[in-house]
Amino acid sequence: MSLNIAVLASGRGSNLEAILDAIAQGKLDAKVQLVLVNVAGAGAVDIASKHGVATAVVPNAGLSRQEHEEKVVAELKKHQLDFIVLAGYMRVLSPNLLSHFKDNRGFFKVINIHPSLLPSFPGIRGYEEAYEYGVKIAGVTVHLVDEKVDHGPILAQATFTRSPDDTLESFKARGLKIEHELFPQVLQSIAQDGVSFFPRLKDAKTELTENKGTDRETARR
Ligand code: GRF
Repeated sequence: MSLNIAVLASGRGSNLEAILDAIAQGKLDAKVQLVLVNVAGAGAVDIASKHGVATAVVPNAGLSRQEHEEKVVAELKKHQLDFIVLAGYMRVLSPNLLSHFKDNRGFFKVINIHPSLLPSFPGIRGYEEAYEYGVKIAGVTVHLVDEKVDHGPILAQATFTRSPDDTLESFKARGLKIEHELFPQVLQSIAQDGVSFFPRLKDAKTELTENKGTDRETARR
């Protein structure tokens, strides 16, 4: 099925652009109904406009989290959305906001891309911390969002090798290129086959039993 999505961003918007390009090239069966940013002047707004996508600027400055999220939810609810896609949205979503986008199994229909191999290096400095730590294999993660930061079920990961002559800039650039491939691919796989992930065994013993021992969670939407 074709996915109706809203993309939330705070800055440059290169992942948004990769998603929109994949749609334009027929590689991703989706429609971006709305691009919402919390920072006026974010590059993501120009990218959305170039592609003829509706935009909403909802600044958080001067508002409490709850006040800001009420505005965000009001914008999102104007559209029929299958998923909320976080592409460099630098705000933590509260359980209250997430509760508006719950699927029938209790997972949130919110997807994030994170610049590390989670659970390593959560937070806003994924590439920097991996580089500073001296990892030899780095990567990116696309995951469902849950109530904890950079924590929800992993949908896909892709790796890249740190080369001896990498600078932080070349390391980040290689990672970002992989993000731009992986994110549209994951969304396309959801459009085709629904959400799929390995359950976290310590959280999901009951579900495993219900699934008669299968070790893969799938859901068609
Ligand atoms: C990306 O590295 C993404 O993984 C992280 O924030 C960055 C956003 O970049 N969550 P862009 O705005 O998509 O160019």
